[in-house]
Amino acid sequence: MLMEKKIYFIGGKGGVGKSTTSAAMALLLSQKGKKVLLVSTDPAHNSGDLFHKDLSGGKIQSVAENLDVLEIDSEQESRKYINGVKGNLKGLVKATMLDEVNRQIDMAASSPGAEEAALFDRITSLILEEISHYDTIVFDTAPTGHTIRLLTLPELMGVWMDGLLERRKKTNENYAQWMNDGEIAEDPIYEKLNERKNRFMRVREILLDNSQTEYVFVLNAERLPILETGKAIDTLHKHGLHVNSIVVNKVIPEDADGRFMELRRTNERVYLEEIQQKFTHQRQLFLPLLEHDISSLDALEQIAGILGKQVAAFIK
Ligand SMILES: Nc1ncnc2c1ncn2[C@@H]1O[C@H](COP(=O)(O)OP(=O)(O)OP(=O)(O)O)[C@@H](O)[C@H]1O
Ligand SMILES: [Mg+2]
Repeated sequence: MLMEKKIYFIGGKGGVGKSTTSAAMALLLSQKGKKVLLVSTDPAHNSGDLFHKDLSGGKIQSVAENLDVLEIDSEQESRKYINGVKGNLKGLVKATMLDEVNRQIDMAASSPGAEEAALFDRITSLILEEISHYDTIVFDTAPTGHTIRLLTLPELMGVWMDGLLERRKKTNENYAQWMNDGEIAEDPIYEKLNERKNRFMRVREILLDNSQTEYVFVLNAERLPILETGKAIDTLHKHGLHVNSIVVNKVIPEDADGRFMELRRTNERVYLEEIQQKFTHQRQLFLPLLEHDISSLDALEQIAGILGKQVAAFIK
């Protein structure tokens, strides 16, 4: 059931309405009495604008009854993450080596993917720990490519960490041969790596579990969003992640009048039909184009209301 999930990921192409849909979905769930955390993972945040609250600083804040919001600051997360790694290694490497080790960590920190890894670490802790304070977490994600990389990260990290662990074990075994009793000493680095790997595996299990996690793709009735959504759904499917719902946003309302609107509607009809034929494995929800931007709680409530009716129609 769409409204009973623990975790929602809202994805889609740039500008289609991901943040609007995530906020409306979070609001709707909170109105149904669930305690909800809305998390923005997009470096270009705008949840704060939607709720007219300054959410900078990466702290969870309450914006409505039962509804908290967090904008993850990936730069800050990355810094925290690096300091954490340095802290972990402090007791493990020789004091004389520490400067060199820290220099190497700083170099790794500025390499591509470091912020993503830190962001994923934060998402992991939200899903594994913070979830205990909430009924559900809604993730508003960045445009498609970024999100797919993020969601497939645990799988990649798993393979990569297996390699690291294997090598670490070998080093240890070689080392043990030279010891008097051949005993393998406890290896704190191995332990740390293993602990991280286990966390990734736990999160991966939740992300792959359809009864706990729902992937919603937002698109508009236009050629490029349809193409991109199709590709994204296929890619995620290959990684075992199934998109079960799509939200077609900004559909021209029935009562929009005038010749221009009539022409737009004719143009749109072709794409709406294409969507209906193409996305047969997905539950399809439709949201109308409003006369104005959705930048107030009133407008958001209006969208949440429409979403609620659509969801109810699916339950029947
Ligand atoms: N149904 C709608 N009717 C009218 N305006 C809308 C509707 N949905 C979204 N908008 C407006 O369209 C713009 C883009 O929406 P939104 O920020 O939700 O998209 P996004 O997919 O999160 O974008 P980004 O990829 O930049 O994060 C915003 O100005 C929003 O207010
Ligand atoms: Mg957005």
